[in-house]
Order: sequence, then structure tokens, then C-alpha cells
Amino acid sequence: MGPLVTTPAHSPARAGALGVDTPSPHPDDKLVVRAVTKTFTGRRKDPVHALADVDLHVDSGELVCLLGASGCGKSTLLSIIGGLETATDGEVRIEGELVVGPGADRGMVFQGYSLFPWLSVARNVGFGLDVARWTKARRKERVAELLGIMGLTEFAGALPGELSGGMKQRVAIARALAPEPDVLLLDEPFGALDAQTKRAMQDFLLTVWRRTRTTILMVTHDIEEAIYLSQRIYVLAPRPGRVTAEITVPFGANRGPAVKRDPRFLDLRDELSELLSIT
Ligand SMILES: Nc1ncnc2c1ncn2[C@@H]1O[C@H](COP(=O)(O)OP(=O)(O)OP(=O)(O)O)[C@@H](O)[C@H]1O
Ligand SMILES: [Mg+2]
Repeated sequence: MGPLVTTPAHSPARAGALGVDTPSPHPDDKLVVRAVTKTFTGRRKDPVHALADVDLHVDSGELVCLLGASGCGKSTLLSIIGGLETATDGEVRIEGELVVGPGADRGMVFQGYSLFPWLSVARNVGFGLDVARWTKARRKERVAELLGIMGLTEFAGALPGELSGGMKQRVAIARALAPEPDVLLLDEPFGALDAQTKRAMQDFLLTVWRRTRTTILMVTHDIEEAIYLSQRIYVLAPRPGRVTAEITVPFGANRGPAVKRDPRFLDLRDELSELLSIT
């Protein structure tokens, strides 16, 4: 399995000086993270070095996972990419544009449930469209389309409190996808679900990804989930959070549960377990 593991593609040496427009070595790059470092400083506490010199890229239409143990900086990195948190050093670019704050080009699903409990399913899904001032007719059409894709049409008028965990996460994904973002950022979207619902949601995400061809960066600490869903995996190690391996997953987009019995799947699972245990 050795050849599947490579060192991170964008070494700081290749990235060039910060702030200088160095052409990307990957012409299909949708998202590029270059030399991102994050240190949290509190008045009374020692600084926390959450991320150190993180380089990664996600190509257009790719589904990539960030895999790492608890506390290795996965949510911090996603928040920086989402523009909700600023990097201490380094930069994030979407289609070559420097990220300086949140934007409609990125849809985000946060760790844990984050729906507006007082809004119906349809209004939750349409929330970003209201903000982006879509016309009422377009908004209605887009919400109906997404509810159809998510299998939630009959729950359009329900409140989040009336839904199961899996349904809530489908609404959260639909809400993030609604404004047609360039990149979908998912932070452990299935982490709180039972094993069976989680499997159904993974298949569901693969179906949505195949249908919409959205570029997806997803955080997980679940090795099998990362292999099952992604085309590439970045392994993160903690203290400080950094990329220690980049793995190419050898299965195509039309994969199904049968790949979980493929010897390459099992080898990758063992290899990733080892990588995570030594980090
Ligand atoms: N706002 C903050 N202020 C201070 N420290 C923070 C803050 N946010 C995160 N950290 C610290 O940064 C490190 C990385 O946290 P982060 O939430 O990114 O990890 P994670 O990989 O997402 O973990 P988990 O898998 O448990 O969600 C941790 O040590 C955490 O305590
Ligand atoms: Mg997290």
C-alpha cells in the first residue's frame, strides 16, 4: 500500500512567499490552504498551537477528508477555511481568491446540530437564499429541489425538533448546499448518529455528491468513513495540528458498500490505524 501514501503536495518551499501570487501547481484547485498556522493566545493561559504550517488542496469536484484524532485542529482548520476564524499565518484561497471572511462561495455544516429551531425545515434550507436576496420564486424552486434530493419534501413545514438526527443533518447539508457554494465544508456531520443511520447518511452523501458534483472537504475521526467517502485523505496529527500524510483512495465515484470488503480497503484501514496511533 506504500505507493498510495505521499508527502503533502504543497510544501512551503513550493508555495513561495506568503501573500505573493504563486501559480498553483494543480490547475484544477478549487481550494488551496497554504502554510496555515493558528495559535490561540489567552490572557492568563499558555498559548495553544492548534495548527502548524498546514498545506492542502482540494480539486474541483473532489471529495476530500481530513482525518485526525480529537483536538488535532480539524474544526479550527475548517473554521479558518470558512472564514469564521483567522489564521495566525498563511492563507486560504478559493478559486484563487484570498479568503478574508465568510462568503456564499463556501457552505458549512458545523459539528453537532446547528439548525434554527424556530424555523421550519423549508425556511432553514432557504435561509442562505434570503440572506443572498434570491427572488421568492427562485428561492421556492431551489428549496423544493433540495428537499426532493434530500427526501424531505413531506417535512417542509416541520420544525427541527420534530426530526430524527439523520433528518436534521440532511436539512443542515441542504441548507449549506442551497446557495450553490463552490465548496462544501462538513465538520463531522455524522459523528452523533447511530451506526446504521450513519451508514445510510454516508451513502446519501455519495449520491448527493455524484448528483451535484460539489467540491467537498469533510472532517472525520472515523477511518472507515474517510476511506468509504473520499478520493483523498489528509491525515492530521495533534499538538500542533499538522498534516502527516496524504493518501489517495483507489475507488471511483460509483463505489458502494461492497468496497468495504475489498482487500485494498482493508489494507488502507490498517495503514491509517497505524498512522493515527503513532501520531
Ligand atoms: N477558541 C479557542 N480558544 C482557545 N483554544 C482553542 C479554541 N478553539 C480550539 N482551541 C484549541 O485548539 C485545539 C484544536 O481544537 P479543534 O476544536 O480544532 O480540534 P478538533 O480536531 O476539531 O477536535 P474534535 O475531534 O474533538 O472536534 C485544541 O487544543 C483546542 O483546545
Ligand atoms: Mg472538531
